[in-house]
Amino acid sequence: RTVDWTPEDAQKEGYDHYMLKEIHEQPMALRRALRGRIDAGIEVPAWLLDHPDGVPVRFVACGTSYHAALYAVELLQKRGISAQASLASEFATSPPPLVDGSVVVGVTQSGETADTLGALRRASEAGARTLAVTNVVGSTAARECDDAIFIRAGPEIGVAATKTFSSQVVTLALLAERLADADTGILQALSTVPDALQYVLDHTTAPQVARTYADASAYFFVGRGVAHSVSLEGALKLKEISYEHAEGFPAGELKHGPLALVTPETPVFAIETGDHSDRMRGTVEEVQARGAPVVAVTHPESAVAAAAETVLPIPETHPELAGLLANAQLQLLSYHTARLLDRPVDKPRNLAKSVTVE
Ligand code: AGP
Repeated sequence: RTVDWTPEDAQKEGYDHYMLKEIHEQPMALRRALRGRIDAGIEVPAWLLDHPDGVPVRFVACGTSYHAALYAVELLQKRGISAQASLASEFATSPPPLVDGSVVVGVTQSGETADTLGALRRASEAGARTLAVTNVVGSTAARECDDAIFIRAGPEIGVAATKTFSSQVVTLALLAERLADADTGILQALSTVPDALQYVLDHTTAPQVARTYADASAYFFVGRGVAHSVSLEGALKLKEISYEHAEGFPAGELKHGPLALVTPETPVFAIETGDHSDRMRGTVEEVQARGAPVVAVTHPESAVAAAAETVLPIPETHPELAGLLANAQLQLLSYHTARLLDRPVDKPRNLAKSVTVE
């Protein structure tokens, strides 16, 4: 008898790809990220709690981690805390002026991304306090920063970041709530997110949607607020593993240029979290008038869903967390599109899991 599986197949635990396995690990990863951090609050360094009002919390990150940082900026700003996210490569080459009491948070799942390490070192040289939000205990970022917070996602093998994005967002949501003065209700909502995510994974229509639009000439993703960061992430994931042209835009920006790209061959994924329903309805009409099919990534009973051709449904949740559920649908959309196009899902061309050169 011969064995027709490899040790790698065994590690995939029955899934065809690490990416799909890691997408499905998200409910478990989020339970781990939240454990002990809801009732007691997440532990954050005292210098971060005491940082001067009005001095922005600055995030530096790349790729998917940058999108998680943008998500966090929205959460902090909603709580009256000034925050900014910079792409680490830009921060390292043109650093913003840092004032006394500046804090810089590096979001990096691997903790080894050269651009992010470069930005953190620059920040530290300029006198800022630095915090690593990372998945890897003992990583360079965790060792070099003044403090570290771990996202507890577990190892991620697929080049596409999936469960680490969700774990970053949840960890940063806990951090935002810790820095806020008032209880915003997000902690209670966070505790229900792992089950809601499981529901999305169990009931997704992403395989059908991927098939419907597999011949598209380009894919556009639009959203507002946290859904803007999810639109960028949805587009990055799709281009990374399917090699299809995809872009994410803030919905309000469409009319300032990108609308010229919208045609009947370009599906538009409208991500609606429950916060911006009327304006997103307007966006849907804007693109439908140009003949584009709209896929609403939202609660099936929302007005945006009613106006769209197709829905990637998400259960009702706190609007600040709906983006996470929408993002899981978009991860699955990318995965199934890449499969239909026969792409090497776990090892896309020209890309490395962790980019250790600047
Ligand atoms: C996302 O799918 C990518 N693999 C990539 O954008 C990644 O998020 C980026 O290189 C940053 O990596 P890090 O989180 O390890 O710093």
